[in-house]
Amino acid sequence: MHIDTKDGIPVRLVMTEADDWHLHVRDGALLGAVLPDTVRRFRRAIIMPNLEPPVTTVAAARAYRERILACVPRDGRFTPLMTLYLTAATTVGDIEEAADSGLIAAVKYYPAGATTNSRQGVSDIRQCDAVLGAMERFDIPLLMHGEVVDPAVDAFAREEVFLERVLTPLLGDFPRLRVVMEHITTAAAVAFVREGPRTLAATLTAHHMLLNRNALFEGGIRPHHYCRPLLQPEGDRRALVAAAISGHPRFFLGTDSAPHPRFAKESACGCAGIYTAHAALELYAEIFADAGALDRLEGFASHFGADFYGLPRNTGTVCLERGPLQVPQTVSFGVGEGVPFRAGMTVDWHLAGTAG
Ligand code: NCD
Ligand code: ZN
Repeated sequence: MHIDTKDGIPVRLVMTEADDWHLHVRDGALLGAVLPDTVRRFRRAIIMPNLEPPVTTVAAARAYRERILACVPRDGRFTPLMTLYLTAATTVGDIEEAADSGLIAAVKYYPAGATTNSRQGVSDIRQCDAVLGAMERFDIPLLMHGEVVDPAVDAFAREEVFLERVLTPLLGDFPRLRVVMEHITTAAAVAFVREGPRTLAATLTAHHMLLNRNALFEGGIRPHHYCRPLLQPEGDRRALVAAAISGHPRFFLGTDSAPHPRFAKESACGCAGIYTAHAALELYAEIFADAGALDRLEGFASHFGADFYGLPRNTGTVCLERGPLQVPQTVSFGVGEGVPFRAGMTVDWHLAGTAG
């Protein structure tokens, strides 16, 4: 890693190529429209399986992987890391097949009803104990959408309650199962992961570190700031930034970039999901630079995730420079236009293309 400064301020960063450990790229025309944004910035990404219907078998994951690879631009180098969607019907045999295939990087748990395309998720993960036992044996990580869906639990408390009701007993019963708590949003989750076992890690999105929940209501209701889990109060946002810049190896980058066409967001019952892939690495650079910790970005973005997954670190480099990236008002999602994060505004850093 190398940082150039001017008048004491970092202006250029060259570091190991980064990976995105939590990404939605969808399918069909939308896949073709959004994938190049990720390929430009990341060498690998964990591909979320919440298609309609979800990716529940190795065969479906293999076919989806082929469709993704077909959308990689000619000059791009990109490895999609495939996941399976856990359902009540997932069997130990499915896990054995996943382990044999060498194709499945992880299994994703969605609580039924918690978020986009989670209808076929699991209502009680303890119905899946046999499957979790197999994952533990074959060392396949479990990626968790960490929220309870109990209607009696406040929408902003769902992650915290999840820690106590679901995650604590699960870690106790499956001590060797590797677990990633995806897109954590609260100081409680940060503390839980920090104090938790070495088998437990967490991904952090850029949007949860850049916005607090006031952003949902700025000047009116703001559907493009709506995602699951929800944005949280300022104290939580700060705790996420502190975790990310701490250099702790069990916190790493996962954008949760989740494209939805504009009409599906700007509606009476709008979809959850924020699109950040168009500026993902630049947004993280802005967060780390503003916190005076740009030297910690490489570990967070390029080392710790690969280490946790037991994959080799990337060997190429990526270069970011200070200077505004202008974000357009809208981008094409193939199936209509989309409104990207920071639409019509700027990001402090931009990609200078690969160096070295
Ligand atoms: C994601 C999506 O749109 O697929 N939405 C979101 O708000 N993050 C699903 C998810 O990761 O929860
Ligand atoms: Zn997601």
